[in-house]
Amino acid sequence: MEKEKKTILSAIKPTGTLNLGGYLGAMKNWVALQDEYNCLYCIADLHALTIKIEPATLRKNSLELFALYMACGIDPKKTVLFFQSHVHQHAELGWILDCYTMFGELSRMTQFKDKAAKNADNVNAGLFTYPSLMAADILLYQADLVPVGEDQRQHLEICRDIANRFNGRYGEVFTLPDAYTPKVGARVKSLSNPMNKMSKSESDANGTVDLLDPRDAIIRKFKKAVTDSDSRVRYAEGKDGINNLMSIYSAVTGKTFSEIEKDFDGKGYGDFKLAVGESVADCLAPIQEKYRLIREDKAELERIYREGAEKASYLANKTMRKVYKKIGLIEK
Ligand code: TYM
Repeated sequence: MEKEKKTILSAIKPTGTLNLGGYLGAMKNWVALQDEYNCLYCIADLHALTIKIEPATLRKNSLELFALYMACGIDPKKTVLFFQSHVHQHAELGWILDCYTMFGELSRMTQFKDKAAKNADNVNAGLFTYPSLMAADILLYQADLVPVGEDQRQHLEICRDIANRFNGRYGEVFTLPDAYTPKVGARVKSLSNPMNKMSKSESDANGTVDLLDPRDAIIRKFKKAVTDSDSRVRYAEGKDGINNLMSIYSAVTGKTFSEIEKDFDGKGYGDFKLAVGESVADCLAPIQEKYRLIREDKAELERIYREGAEKASYLANKTMRKVYKKIGLIEK
């Protein structure tokens, strides 16, 4: 790792396949950061266990996501790319940080409250302590910046609180990380319910565009996107559906909102929805092509994730030795 560069870490849970929200809100920005920073990106497979997930599904999602990272442009020569479960220090530091995380602060996490309400039959302890494992993911690598969507900001705040508490007691052990949220595309909403984020757990398949969706399905989903009764394409309060489509269109074409408004002046929502659908399908086509090639070469994929785990373990171990010593555990 180059010392003078800042370190970035981020992760995606393999609870589903990657959708447009995760791509525009996360992955696309990660690709752009690879030259400027020391980047570590991981598949947060241990976090995925907080929901009920079939082993075969978890395995499939994890490998698919790994290949998608690469297809989207994450380059394992520049970036450390790995599975969280391959680096045992994540779970170890997660436990230690549990002991420096308060019940009260975990109880206030909005994601915990939302998920507990939605899955009343599986409010497990892992769901509750999820933020301390996520803090471990970040603090293990002394990350300076964590690129995440808006929905993860509260988790970043608690990570800083935990790190501050630990450092306050033991000296400067952890770097305090900052959230890094890009402006455009940072919050992609569901196409069928534009008040909510486009999410892997969404029940309406029309609301979510998966990265591996075929072209005709993508265009069909955009044609069906929920909008309002106005007919002018313009960004304005209360026009959640159109605002979302404009954000997506802007993220994939690079056009500003005023350019989009000018381009679609005098045209209806139908034309606009079709244009957004086509531009998204065009943007995803080369990614899907690359994905297929990467997924076919199983041996190479394995080589890459083993190498990633090795590099990550080396860095994680440095932090763990420091932590063990500071808190009073006996060194081996
Ligand atoms: P996850 O897997 O839900 O989402 C991965 C990343 O994608 C962003 N994202 C979105 N951004 C914009 N619009 C959307 N509709 C959208 N959907 C998802 C998320 O904000 C996130 O940045 N807890 C994390 C995973 C995690 C992690 C970490 C992240 C585990 N350890 C350490 C950063 C650092 C999560 O559930 O993300």
